[in-house]
Amino acid sequence: MSERRTLARDRSDRQETVGALYRRVRDRFRQSRLTTPDLDARRLVCHATGLSTAGLVADPDRQLDAEDGIRADDLVVRRLAGESVARLTGERDFWGRPFEITAETLEPRPDTETLIEVVLSRVGAELAPHATVLDIGTGSGILATTLLAECSRMTALAIDISPDAIAVARRNADRHGVGGRCRFACMSYFDALSGRFDLIVSNPPYIPTADIETLAPEVAGHDPRIALDGGADGHTAFRRIFSQAHSHLNPGGLLLVEIGFDQAGTVSDLARTNGFAVRSTVKDLEGRDRAVLALLP
Ligand SMILES: C[S@@+](CC[C@H](N)C(=O)[O-])C[C@H]1O[C@@H](n2cnc3c(N)ncnc32)[C@H](O)[C@@H]1O
Repeated sequence: MSERRTLARDRSDRQETVGALYRRVRDRFRQSRLTTPDLDARRLVCHATGLSTAGLVADPDRQLDAEDGIRADDLVVRRLAGESVARLTGERDFWGRPFEITAETLEPRPDTETLIEVVLSRVGAELAPHATVLDIGTGSGILATTLLAECSRMTALAIDISPDAIAVARRNADRHGVGGRCRFACMSYFDALSGRFDLIVSNPPYIPTADIETLAPEVAGHDPRIALDGGADGHTAFRRIFSQAHSHLNPGGLLLVEIGFDQAGTVSDLARTNGFAVRSTVKDLEGRDRAVLALLP
């Protein structure tokens, strides 16, 4: 019997409460050995029923609405098929703020918070508080929005090749009150860009094409291919960015890119070949190389 039919039968066997629904989903996720079954169950049940966590805990005997039950079953089936909780709820936290995500945007990763930490630690010293920022491949807008939310005098231009991603990024910037300081443009890298910036940040696509199918199902099956695919050697975007960035940085400007764990050497070489001084390679919380910070002398 299909997962969906089993779930529907389990539900119709009894007048289910929201608490019983939570326990049933949690047990199904435990049985399937998901990494965080209790948390996943709570978030998906809350999403399906519209309850907050506090509401679910405070009133577990509340009768489950039939349509909410069907919605929950659908989410369970999709979770078991490999979609992440963030994809299913359409929201993911980044640097302590919730961001909308859609099928057209990469799901933000904690690793990318490394870039925020690097920038914030340099504001006031190398970077003026009113610095101008270019975010290349903004996706859901996490980098531009977070930097503007943390630095009240910064302004940014966020670009992406995907018009749908730009629409999501704009909504996220507005949601966090920084839309007035952020411009958006749909373009490929620097193709239609004029003007110079104090800082360029980018988490570009950097997975070698052949490696994409080896990634976790949450990634390979659900993140947009255009957000992942870095070409045959994973460096297509880095070559474009480092070869053209000097025309769009002010003297002394900084270029900060996220990299794959094994790309620090090759990306640093690309930076030097294109006239940049490499300030540092930065590790993420797991201790893997995660970013290269370069300076335009
Ligand atoms: C790895 S995702 C990063 C998204 C977001 N900045 C983040 O960190 O979650 C790469 C982004 O680059 C965009 N992109 C891919 N090719 C591009 C190009 N030629 N020009 C501009 N953006 C591009 C994708 O649409 C995607 O949003």
